[in-house]
This record gives sequence, structure tokens and C-alpha cells, in this order.
Amino acid sequence: MTDTSGRTGWLASARLVVLGIVVVIVVPALAFIIAAIGQSVSGETDETAAVALDSSGACVTCHQRTTPGIIEQYSRSSMAAANVTCQNCHEVAEGYPDSKEHHGSHILTVPTTAKCATCHEDQAAQMNQSRHGLPAYIAMWGTEGLNEEHLALYQSIEEGTYNPDRMRNALFEKEGPAITKFACAGCHDIGAPAADGSVGQCQECHLRHEFSLEQARKPETCNHCHIGPDHPQYEIYIESFHGIAYLTGGDDWNWEAEPGTLTVRDFPAPTCATCHISGFGGAPTTHDVGDRLTWYLFAPQSARRPNWEDNMTQMQAVCTECHSRAFIEEFYVDADALVEEINRRVQLSNETIAPAREAGLLTAEAFDQPIDFIHFDLWHHWGRTAKFGAWMGGPDYVQWHGAYEILRDQAELEAIVAELLEKAGLSDDAEPSGS
Ligand code: HEC
Ligand code: HEC
Ligand code: HEC
Ligand code: HEC
Ligand code: HEC
Ligand code: HEC
Ligand code: HEC
Ligand code: HEC
Repeated sequence: MTDTSGRTGWLASARLVVLGIVVVIVVPALAFIIAAIGQSVSGETDETAAVALDSSGACVTCHQRTTPGIIEQYSRSSMAAANVTCQNCHEVAEGYPDSKEHHGSHILTVPTTAKCATCHEDQAAQMNQSRHGLPAYIAMWGTEGLNEEHLALYQSIEEGTYNPDRMRNALFEKEGPAITKFACAGCHDIGAPAADGSVGQCQECHLRHEFSLEQARKPETCNHCHIGPDHPQYEIYIESFHGIAYLTGGDDWNWEAEPGTLTVRDFPAPTCATCHISGFGGAPTTHDVGDRLTWYLFAPQSARRPNWEDNMTQMQAVCTECHSRAFIEEFYVDADALVEEINRRVQLSNETIAPAREAGLLTAEAFDQPIDFIHFDLWHHWGRTAKFGAWMGGPDYVQWHGAYEILRDQAELEAIVAELLEKAGLSDDAEPSGS
């Protein structure tokens, strides 16, 4: 009996010893392995992990209390990880334009492109050579008030000085600053000059203070401005096959991939950034969003851009990472034909109102008669929408928000002009005037 109990006792203590060994050696080893695996997994998300900011700087210490949200956000940026400090962007010499004294130093509330350009010269230069630079600003203000340096910069932008119509400057005047500050300027300020002379607002696409690549690459970033009846690029994208792929599978895409290295493994379908900005396939990264475009689609009647053939090569280098060359070439032939067809229909609308204009039956002022709005909508909303819809894959925008509305406005223009001519006794079947 005692034997058994003795054996049991021995067994029990042997088990205890084994358990002890497990606890002392195996568990910590396991924990070590788990920790190691954990680390290699989180290694992939290092870029978004918070880093401890250098609190020897007075800005961080104090702002941890006053604006903890900014400290928290910035500590997740890859710039913080690369030791870029608050001072690098905000601090300037005394007397710097628009600066203010702040706890013993001088700061800019809104750091300008000049500050970013101290480290990102290429991106700033490319943006300044694009329509996201001064042309965006001039689209609302005109060139009035720009200094000579800005005028010279503007004139050096090859694709920037093309201005087919200045009608919207009339809208800008008519609505007045109380409105336009929140309207036109909310989008067109992307190209506004700052007091220090530098141009552009990087933070329109790189929201502070995370400056995250994922955010810049997602279409919602462009959606701040590229929406609405006159340029519904976001809505078109969302209904395109590319947008469907983004909405249904985008959670698994490699949003933080190193710039310039993107391939179809990171992005199985494109976002706005892939086609217009990112380095992808044979196309290098560019902050000049005109680099890959062949037409001036925004114009009432589209013309070819300078260098359009080179630009086409750039864009097609992106497309052909995922599509066959023949498929893309055929697509371009078809989309070009649509552009020509819309050009013809806008031309027709011009010819329709010409007799009324020539007879002095329309006022010289823009946007003061219903006919002005119909004529404007025909190209500015529906003509453009049809073109954008074709190029970026949104059939509803080509048809019901495009071609159909053009037909309707054309019919209305014809009726209004006929009535005006008849009232003036100028129509073919009207009584001769004075009779
Ligand atoms: C002693 C505390 C303190 C220090 C040091 C400090 N700040 Fe501030 N800062 C503040 C406070 C308080 C505000 C106002 C916050 C508010 O209005 O809620 C502020 C506001 C700001 C603003 C916004 C200014 C505006 O016009 O809206 C910026 C930008 C800023 N600080 C940057 C910095 C930078 C960069 C440094 C380091 C060079 C720094 N701060 C150092 C306390 C400090
Ligand atoms: C890479 C450049 C950069 C760095 C680094 C940076 N900021 Fe900013 N900060 C900006 C920009 C750009 C804006 C203006 C944003 C805008 O106008 O939308 C801004 C705005 C601000 C504002 C005013 C806006 C607000 O919401 O109150 C404060 C305060 C501020 N920053 C504090 C800091 C502090 C503190 C640090 C360091 C932890 C810091 N910033 C680091 C670029 C930077
Ligand atoms: C003092 C130099 C410096 C200044 C000033 C600066 N940056 Fe940076 N920036 C860097 C460095 C270094 C990196 C690279 C971080 C990395 O790749 O790890 C970087 C990376 C970036 C990135 C890519 C982020 C990523 O996840 O790879 C963006 C976007 C960016 N900066 C925007 C800006 C903007 C906008 C401004 C001005 C408001 C600005 N930077 C000012 C040094 C600077
Ligand atoms: C929601 C943002 C937004 C608002 C608000 C806005 N625009 Fe635009 N505007 C754009 C975008 C985006 C384009 C470019 C469309 C394209 O390239 O296809 C554009 C194009 C233009 C163009 C044609 C390009 C050029 O430089 O000739 C003019 C002119 C223009 N806008 C003037 C104005 C005026 C004036 C107002 C206010 C009455 C205004 N816009 C309001 C976003 C906006
Ligand atoms: C129209 C939106 C837009 C504007 C405005 C913009 N960026 Fe970018 N930026 C992007 C996108 C999208 C990417 C990601 C490109 C990619 O996918 O590789 C990017 C990437 C970057 C990068 C990292 C990529 C690289 O080439 O190293 C830096 C740095 C950067 N931007 C700086 C700036 C600066 C500085 C400005 C202002 C002069 C600016 N950006 C204005 C959209 C923009
Ligand atoms: C803050 C507003 C704003 C944001 C955000 C913005 N854009 Fe723009 N974009 C404009 C305006 C305004 C124009 C028209 C400028 C002009 O022609 O006068 C424009 C024009 C363009 C053009 C046509 C350029 C040309 O040469 O005709 C492209 C392409 C473009 N944007 C792509 C993008 C992409 C992609 C994004 C997002 C990564 C983006 N934009 C974000 C305001 C914006
Ligand atoms: C599959 C690639 C692709 C995607 C995704 C894409 N675009 Fe485009 N985009 C194009 C092509 C192609 C054109 C017409 C190019 C030409 O003129 O040759 C175009 C034209 C434009 C224009 C018109 C410029 C002008 O001449 O008026 C703007 C603005 C624009 N895109 C912005 C955007 C925005 C914003 C998004 C996302 C919401 C987007 N694009 C998504 C390929 C793309
Ligand atoms: C990163 C990969 C990728 C890039 C780059 C890309 N596409 Fe696509 N594209 C796709 C995917 C995925 C689909 C959806 C496939 C399907 O329809 O079965 C698609 C669908 C399309 C369709 C619709 C096909 C159909 O069957 O109706 C057209 C048209 C198209 N793409 C044109 C373009 C053009 C033009 C470009 C360049 C400006 C481009 N794509 C760039 C991945 C890509």
C-alpha cells in the first residue's frame, strides 16, 4: 500500500519538477518566441507605430499639455521616426513674412511650401510646374496682384498658361469674397502663393500631422476637390471597375509601400494616385499631375496638350502593368473619338446662340440671363462629365449626367433663341420687322 502511495508521491513530485522545468525554461522561451514573432509582425506596421518624440525640444514638452492631439498624431508619422522636428517645419528667423513670436522663438502657424522644400525640393518643383500650382489660383483670381517672379513662374509652366475661357472669374466677382473664401478658394487655394513668395499647399493632400502615404494614396483625399457636377472624378472612379476593386478589396492593399517601388503586388487595381502621381510600372513618381495627360479635358472644346504623345506613353506604362497593350490602345482610340464628338456638340451649342448674340439680343454681362446658365452648363457640367466618365470608367456619367443633359440643354437653347429671334422679328418665319 505504502509502495503505491510512495510511488504516487514520487510521481507527483517528479511531475512537479517537470512542471517546474516547464515553468522556468519552456514558458520564458515560448514567451521569447511569441515576442519575437510579434515583433516581426509589428515590424511591418512600424511606420504607423508611435515613436517617442524628442522632448528636449520645448515645443514637444509644452504642446504635450496644450495640444496633445498634435503630439500623438505627429508621433505616428515617418517624419517623426526620421527625427524631423516641430522646429524644422514651424520655426523661422525673426521678421520672416507672416511669422509670429512664440515662447522665445518665431514660428509660422501654417508652414509654407518653402519649409517643405528645404527637404523635398523635387516634389515642390514638380508641383510648381503643374496646374496644382499657380494655374489653380489664377483660375479664380486671374493674374492680377501677382508679382513679377510669380508671373515668370506661371509663364514657365508649359501646360499651365492654357486658359480657354475666363467665365468663372465673372462668377468669382459676382459671388463676392464672403462666399468665395469658402467656395472657389476652398479648392483652388491648393496653388495659392504664401507671404514668403513660395507657392502651393502640400497639406491639401498630406494632412498634418501624420503625413501618411496611405492617406495621400486613397481617392478620398482627391475627393475634397474632384467632385461635383463639373468635375465628378471621384464619383466616376467609385462606379468604375477600378473603384469597385478598391472598395471591395482595398483593405488588403499595401498602402504604406515605399514610394517608387509600387507594383501590382501592392495595388491590384489603381487609385487616382496610381494613375496620376505614383511611380508604378515604367512611370516614375511625379507631383506634376499633368505629366500623363493628352487632352485639356476641362476646356469647353478640348485641345491636345503640348507633349501629349510623351504623356500618353507615361500613362499607358501604368495601364499596361495590368492590361494588354492592344486593349489599352483600342481604349484610347474610342475615348479620343468621344472627346471629338463632345467637341462637336459644344460647337453646335455655340452656333445655336450665335445669331442671337450677333443681333445684340443677349446682354454682354455673363451670368445675368437664364440662357447664359444653360449654355454654360452644357459644356461646363455635362460635356466635361461625359469626357471624364469615358476616360475613367463611369458609364452613368457619360450617359445620364452627360450626353442626355447635353441633348436637353441643346433643345432648350434652340427654343429660347428661336423665341428671341422671333420677338425681334429676325427669325426666318417671322414677319419682317417694322411691318
Ligand atoms: C510654454 C508652452 C509652449 C511652448 C514652449 C511652445 N508652444 Fe506653441 N502654443 C502654446 C499654446 C498655449 C498655444 C495656443 C494653443 C491654443 O490656442 O489652444 C500654442 C500655439 C501654437 C501654434 C498655433 C499658433 C496659431 O496661431 O494658431 C503653433 C504652430 C505652435 N504653437 C507651435 C509651436 C512650436 C513649433 C514650438 C517650438 C518652437 C512651440 N509651439 C512652443 C504653447 C507653447
Ligand atoms: C512636416 C512639417 C510639420 C511638422 C514636423 C510639424 N508641423 Fe505643425 N503644422 C504643419 C502644417 C503644414 C500645418 C498647417 C496645417 C493646415 O493649415 O491645415 C501645421 C499646423 C500646426 C498647428 C496649428 C494648427 C492647429 O490645428 O492648431 C500647431 C499648433 C502645430 N502645427 C504644432 C506642431 C507641433 C507641436 C509639432 C511638433 C510635435 C509640429 N506642429 C510639427 C506642419 C508640420
Ligand atoms: C527637415 C527636413 C524635412 C522637412 C522640413 C519636411 N520633411 Fe517630409 N520627410 C523628411 C524625411 C527625412 C522623410 C523620410 C521619412 C522616411 O521615409 O522614413 C520625409 C517624408 C515625407 C513624406 C512621406 C511619408 C512616408 O510615410 O514615407 C511626406 C508625404 C512628407 N515628408 C511631406 C512633407 C511636407 C508636406 C512637408 C512640409 C509641410 C515636409 N514633409 C517637411 C524630411 C522633411
Ligand atoms: C470643389 C472644389 C472646387 C470649387 C469649389 C471650385 N473649383 Fe474650379 N476647379 C476644381 C477642379 C478640381 C478643377 C479641375 C477640373 C479638371 O481639371 O478636370 C477646376 C477647374 C476650374 C477652372 C478651369 C481650369 C483653368 O485653370 O482654367 C476654372 C477657371 C475654375 N475651376 C474656376 C473656379 C471658380 C472661379 C470657382 C468659384 C466660383 C471654382 N472654380 C470653384 C475645383 C473646384
Ligand atoms: C495632389 C495631391 C498632392 C499634393 C498637393 C502633394 N502631394 Fe506629395 N504625394 C502625393 C501622393 C499621392 C503621394 C504618394 C506617391 C506614391 O504613391 O508613391 C505623395 C508622396 C510624397 C512624398 C513621398 C514620396 C517621394 O517621392 O519621396 C513626399 C516627400 C511628398 N509627397 C511631399 C510633398 C510636398 C513637399 C508637397 C508640396 C510641395 C506635396 N507632396 C504635395 C500627393 C500629393
Ligand atoms: C485642394 C483641392 C485639390 C485636391 C485635394 C486635389 N486637387 Fe487636383 N486639382 C485641383 C484644382 C483646383 C485643379 C485645376 C487647376 C486648374 O487647371 O486651374 C486640379 C487639377 C488636377 C488635374 C488636372 C491637371 C491638369 O494638368 O489639367 C489632375 C490630374 C488632378 N488634379 C489630380 C488630383 C489627384 C490625383 C488628387 C489626389 C491625390 C488631387 N488632384 C487632389 C484641386 C485639387
Ligand atoms: C485607371 C487610371 C485612372 C484613375 C484610377 C483615375 N484617373 Fe483621372 N484620368 C485618367 C485618364 C486616362 C485621363 C484622361 C487623360 C488624357 O487626357 O489623356 C484622366 C483625366 C483626369 C482629369 C482631367 C484633366 C483634364 O484634362 O481636365 C482629372 C482632373 C483626373 N483625371 C483626376 C482623377 C481623380 C481625382 C481620380 C480619382 C478619384 C482619378 N482621376 C482616377 C486615368 C485615371
Ligand atoms: C493595377 C492594375 C490596373 C491598372 C494600373 C489599370 N487597370 Fe484597368 N482594370 C484593372 C482591374 C482589376 C479591372 C477590373 C477587371 C475586370 O473588369 O474584370 C480593370 C478594368 C478596366 C476597364 C474595364 C474593362 C471591362 O471589361 O469593361 C477598363 C476600360 C480599364 N480597366 C482601363 C484602364 C486604363 C485606361 C488604365 C490606365 C489609364 C488602367 N485600366 C489601369 C486593373 C488595372
